[in-house]
Amino acid sequence: MIAAGLMVSFPGALWASTGKVKLDHANIDIHDTESLRRGAKYFANYCFNCHSIRFMRYSRVAKDLDISEDDVSKTMLFTGAKIGDAMNIALDPEDAKRWFGVAPPDLSVVTRSRGVDWIYTYLRSFYKDESRPWGVNNAVFKDVAMPHVLWELQGLQEATTGTINSKEGVEHTVITGFNLIEKGKMNPDEYNNVVRDIVTFLAYVGEPTKATRLNLGRWVLGFLVVYFVVMFLLKKEYWKDVK
Ligand code: HEC
Repeated sequence: MIAAGLMVSFPGALWASTGKVKLDHANIDIHDTESLRRGAKYFANYCFNCHSIRFMRYSRVAKDLDISEDDVSKTMLFTGAKIGDAMNIALDPEDAKRWFGVAPPDLSVVTRSRGVDWIYTYLRSFYKDESRPWGVNNAVFKDVAMPHVLWELQGLQEATTGTINSKEGVEHTVITGFNLIEKGKMNPDEYNNVVRDIVTFLAYVGEPTKATRLNLGRWVLGFLVVYFVVMFLLKKEYWKDVK
């Protein structure tokens, strides 16, 4: 059964009694252009040093998010990159491996592989752990090689733990919540919104054609209806003298 520690509820990731972290809902709206624009900016500032999104081109972001190419060039473009280029990074994978132990993966389709709720929870679940190289661990990604790059905004939190018993009766120590021990520049609500914007942007990067595809679907259906009617009339016309 769940220990008393779990009765106190903290914001952030909580372990469900199954032993798996319960993910928080990202509640994103992929058609919210303002959120997408903010997300693109945060991504450029805080993630793009290490993570490429190479299925995406700068020019496409400018067009889809209605940001001028000039603005994209000034705020997002890597030195030497052109507006029509894929969004690669300058970081050498070999160097990255030496520094982090693992090369930071490309994030083009990460919202599809991990899901938006996972990433939303992940970016809010770093906690202090002196035994780790960057001084932090993560509740949904144990022993993660990524530093808490947003700590300035979120601050630093400490994990509170409790114990649960598995079905087999084995006792596990699990994270039950977080306490903010060092304040960041933002309060928790503001920070959650920043993370939501980043996740929205990544969801768009993973499915940039989602909006256009919906429209296309309507066109295709409309075309099929018209086509069917024309064919039906033609058939009638052809066979009218035969019978
Ligand atoms: C200093 C380099 C660095 C920065 C900056 C950085 N990351 Fe990472 N990130 C990593 C590394 C290294 C990993 C691989 C972790 C591992 O496998 O243990 C990683 C892993 C991830 C993963 C998990 C990918 C997967 O499916 O396994 C996500 C999601 C992620 N990062 C998102 C972000 C976002 C969003 C930002 C910006 C807010 C960001 N990262 C900034 C280095 C970085």
